[in-house]
Amino acid sequence: MLSSSKIRVTLFDLATSLSDVTDLVNPALDDHHKRVAYIAYSLAQEMGLSKKACNDILMAGMLHDIGALSIKEKMKALSFETTASHRHGEAGGFLLKTFAPLAEIGKVISCHHVPWANGAGKQHNGRAVPVASHILHLADRVAVLLKKTKNYFGHSNEVARKIKAQSGEMFMPEAVDAFLALSRKSYFWLDLTSRSLAVMLRRKARVKTVDLDLDGIISLAQVFSRVIDFRSPFTATHSSGVATIAEAMADAIGYSENECAMMKIAGYIHDLGKLAVPTELLEKPAPLTRLEANIVRSHPFYTYRALEHIEDFSTIIKWGAFHHETPKGGGYPFNIGRDELPLGSRVVAVADVFTAITEDRPYRKGMDADQAKSVLRGMASDDQLDPKITALLIHNYEEMNSLREKVQSDLTGVYTEMHNHLDSIYAVNHPN
Ligand SMILES: [Fe+2]
Ligand SMILES: [Fe+2]
Ligand SMILES: [Fe+2]
Repeated sequence: MLSSSKIRVTLFDLATSLSDVTDLVNPALDDHHKRVAYIAYSLAQEMGLSKKACNDILMAGMLHDIGALSIKEKMKALSFETTASHRHGEAGGFLLKTFAPLAEIGKVISCHHVPWANGAGKQHNGRAVPVASHILHLADRVAVLLKKTKNYFGHSNEVARKIKAQSGEMFMPEAVDAFLALSRKSYFWLDLTSRSLAVMLRRKARVKTVDLDLDGIISLAQVFSRVIDFRSPFTATHSSGVATIAEAMADAIGYSENECAMMKIAGYIHDLGKLAVPTELLEKPAPLTRLEANIVRSHPFYTYRALEHIEDFSTIIKWGAFHHETPKGGGYPFNIGRDELPLGSRVVAVADVFTAITEDRPYRKGMDADQAKSVLRGMASDDQLDPKITALLIHNYEEMNSLREKVQSDLTGVYTEMHNHLDSIYAVNHPN
């Protein structure tokens, strides 16, 4: 039977899951978020900042590019001479502001590409820029300059030279001085390229690691769902729709309050692995090639792998990551048979299909009730969806559909608000 005990996970572990999966989309940059976190933390320590400030910078490093909502934006963020990457920083801050434990860190992330400009960078768009943002900026650029294949000892001098040349103009001089001091210490480069960077960061972050209860996890999972969905206007509210329906279905089945909350989280994170799939493939207007289809179909695998190290998440992750498995077998990517497919996964699968076919997308209207019911019935009779769960959804169709519409239309408002906010700032910085 399902576990009904409360679950607790740490903020650091969830942040690591998110950054791990976002780093997968660009294999050219190994562990970008972890490296930035390590460099930024080390710089903050070298500059004599408080333990709390150092820890906050570490978390900001772990999450700094979550607003890079498309591949194009990501490539801009990852080139050294970038001129147009404020937008993803602001987006990251916007996404984090709804989650109280990370709201302050979001402010640091918002400004992580503001140049120092000989002191003018203390302010940006009428706001004070935190020193931590300037430290993060430098750390990010150092990570970008490091090339995976180079010999670090030989390469470190070149990186130091480039950074020094930009002191005052691009980077805050105190941060550059701290970096030059660090760059003379071999252990810094050895740590940075170590295979156990993740373990080391976890040890450093331990002091401030915040435990989250179910409400906290729901709130953070909601941020995750926006990071996933806001990459594309085609599916900007999809995971929120799935989360809402999965939770409502769990309630209709008679799950406990905790289990309903867990189901909502499973809905929010079910497509987390899509962060490892290039947006161009998710949005491709033409049929996918076989290779492309296989890449897209791998997304539940990455959802699973990103979260499997979190012990208390084991039930939620199965519910979420098995959403393309089918009762008759032959689903992907795990090909789980009828006997092993948990009830919770079947609920998320029904919620996913229902939401996908009824939600409006920019290129087509969602199906009306008759069409949607007939598609759902067809899939249930073919054993692609659980027949009992599907029947329950159809039985409560009107209620479920208005719930979905309400949640998705509210969230469309948030999505629009974010883009208006970004457009206003982007226009100020980059008139063309
Ligand atoms: Fe960035
Ligand atoms: Fe970055
Ligand atoms: Fe999916």
